Amino acid sequence: MEEQKKKDELPVLMGRRTFLDYCIGGGIAAWASLTAYTALAFLWPTKQSMGEEGGEGIAIALSEVPVDDSKKIGYKGKPIIVIRTAEGVFALSAICPHLGCLVNWHAGEKQIECPCHAAKFDLRGNVLGGPAPAPLLSYKAEIINDQIKIG
Ligand code: FES
Repeated sequence: MEEQKKKDELPVLMGRRTFLDYCIGGGIAAWASLTAYTALAFLWPTKQSMGEEGGEGIAIALSEVPVDDSKKIGYKGKPIIVIRTAEGVFALSAICPHLGCLVNWHAGEKQIECPCHAAKFDLRGNVLGGPAPAPLLSYKAEIINDQIKIG
């Protein structure tokens, strides 16, 4: 009887329900932070993921960009997208002129698309649709021997 009375008088620091609320809230906050970080890392690549920074001109092996495919590389500190089709090779800024997301090549539609707000561009960087206010910057690109020379 005496012992039961002592148990009832012990201070409760945190109730079970409050503890679970904190755990669930912390889990949701951690998940939201990780999701936001992953999305931002995808949209704004690091210098390392952009590849080497070039000087005046750079070259990449032709085999790195198969026909109807593309590759993003760094050129003068900025990401560019190199696209190879049956028509030749094209090098364009990979930065969407709308809000700066990285664009992607879609071989099926034969156009470049921005994943953020669906701006569309042709192989020369001209705007085909969407909110982009200007074309993609275009760089000189040509195939010489087994290399794609840019710049
Ligand atoms: S950032 Fe590319 S369409 Fe908006």
